[in-house]
Amino acid sequence: MAIENFDDPLKHFDVWYKEACESKIKEPSAMSLATVDSRGRPSVRMVLLKGFSDQGFVFYTNLNSRKGKDLQRNQNAALCFHWIPLEKQVRIEGHAVPVSDEEADNYFSSRSRDSQISAWASIQSSPLTNRKELEKRCKDIASRFEGIKVPRPDFWSGYRLRPREIEFWTAGDNRLHERIVYTFSGDTGYWKRGIKYP
Ligand SMILES: Cc1cc2nc3c(=O)[nH]c(=O)nc-3n(C[C@H](O)[C@H](O)[C@H](O)COP(=O)(O)O)c2cc1C
Repeated sequence: MAIENFDDPLKHFDVWYKEACESKIKEPSAMSLATVDSRGRPSVRMVLLKGFSDQGFVFYTNLNSRKGKDLQRNQNAALCFHWIPLEKQVRIEGHAVPVSDEEADNYFSSRSRDSQISAWASIQSSPLTNRKELEKRCKDIASRFEGIKVPRPDFWSGYRLRPREIEFWTAGDNRLHERIVYTFSGDTGYWKRGIKYP
């Protein structure tokens, strides 16, 4: 397979991601994000990939959410994509750094007005008494910003996960799967490519 000849995992990801986007997969950008709290306890949830480059993989969230608090204390994080029809998995490990305010503003302004209002209304990860409370918060915020542009809340932004290791997994016969692993060496500034037992 031509894919095996990549030196750069971002090029490899680009090819696989395009394939996922061109397939009938619903939400190919959905990825699990694992973080750890101050006591080293992990948690994982889905988020959507909103961009990637050789600088890393971007997602957006509420900075006061559980994941947001985790990342403020401990930047170590991991992502995992699983594209079932393609029998492919991509695992990414690294550290998450905040995107710039400008980048977050640009992305926030591209969202629908209702999503912008929801971002304001949700005290993400906090206990909610009942759904009516949330609906009321949405209504209140909609009237607060009526007729004007909804600004990005300062508690809502993005992170860019800078990868140090990326693994590409393809299902093989008899569970002899293929695993291609790229590890970034800070000493050389290059990616080292290897393979692993399945
Ligand atoms: C397919 C899918 C995509 C999601 N995308 C996002 C996202 O991009 N950002 C986000 O904050 N939450 C997203 N969520 C919700 C999160 O999985 C999670 O419930 C929420 O962020 C709260 O997580 P936390 O309490 O661990 O911080 C998504 C959920 C699903 C199922």
